[in-house]
Amino acid sequence: MTPHPVIQVRDLVKRYPTKTALDGVSFDVHAGEILGLLGPNGAGKSTSMKILTSYLSPSSGKVTVDGIDLDVDPVGVRALLGYLPESTPLYLDMVAYDYLMWIGEMRGFDRATCHRRIAEVASVVGIKEVIGMQIGQLSKGYKQRVGLAQALLHNPKILILDEPTSGLDPNQIVEIRNLIRDLGKSHTVILSSHNLAEVRQVCDRIVIIHRGKVVADGSVDELEGKVGASHKLVVGVAPAAGAPTSAVAALLAGLPRVKAAIFTHDVRAPVPHAVYDVEADADVRPELADAIGKAGHTIVELRRKSMDLEAIFQQLTHDV
Ligand SMILES: Nc1ncnc2c1ncn2[C@@H]1O[C@H](COP(=O)(O)OP(=O)(O)OP(=O)(O)O)[C@@H](O)[C@H]1O
Ligand SMILES: [Mg+2]
Repeated sequence: MTPHPVIQVRDLVKRYPTKTALDGVSFDVHAGEILGLLGPNGAGKSTSMKILTSYLSPSSGKVTVDGIDLDVDPVGVRALLGYLPESTPLYLDMVAYDYLMWIGEMRGFDRATCHRRIAEVASVVGIKEVIGMQIGQLSKGYKQRVGLAQALLHNPKILILDEPTSGLDPNQIVEIRNLIRDLGKSHTVILSSHNLAEVRQVCDRIVIIHRGKVVADGSVDELEGKVGASHKLVVGVAPAAGAPTSAVAALLAGLPRVKAAIFTHDVRAPVPHAVYDVEADADVRPELADAIGKAGHTIVELRRKSMDLEAIFQQLTHDV
């Protein structure tokens, strides 16, 4: 049975004077879930998040968080949420500790409680060693951690993170993703991203927004199934001695449920092999591996071909 959603978003519309940013957005988020809001620039991700965190009011529609109607009790909802905005409004000349103390006091905590909470969140997000430094002197990754500490300070059940890895270098991206995954064990999380690979790694479920509308809502597997990506494979085969590349292509194409097997390129080192794009009606990896092995060839590479966001979009928005 599906548990009762902790966040319900229903028919949200946001009209700016010149632009309808959200045009009837609805989705649920369940307790403990990490939900990825995915969409291109201007899709409406940040607008949705600003409405959820009551920084913006919708033109119409309804949001409930943990049973509380956002319209009726925005302060009650805000207490449940930690929010990392798109461009973290950090005060660059403030020392990280002082900034967090100030945030804590604004949240209504006394200084002793703030001090204790700062120590706790500093340890969770890994900023203990820089807590006495000016925020402006920190690397972008550490600034983002301070932003996360700010979002966690009042111990919210839910985290709303607007593009938490944008602008970070690859090492920092991995670190922040791991941190978010850890936080997801004890929090319900909504994060936004442009990057399908990122949401695939981090999120349990994805809502794709396009031009202010939800165009897809499901697990990564469901979405990939919907656009047919899960049945495309990249197969690298080192042919048995003397066997031509074309023989391998014919073997692959001749397998039941395989629609096409197309040679794409040769790889010379470290193991010489040929790479093929295989398209099938189903996930044919087991029988494909079996057939190649029986014919005396060697599989060097076998993976599902992932579709990039652009390709998924093209397909999803085509039939809407
Ligand atoms: N204050 C505003 N006044 C007018 N239009 C706005 C305003 N804020 C946002 N918009 C427009 O609303 C649409 C949705 O913007 P939003 O910031 O929610 O997109 P986004 O999905 O977060 O995009 P990005 O990936 O670039 O952050 C865009 O077309 C944007 O230009
Ligand atoms: Mg945005």
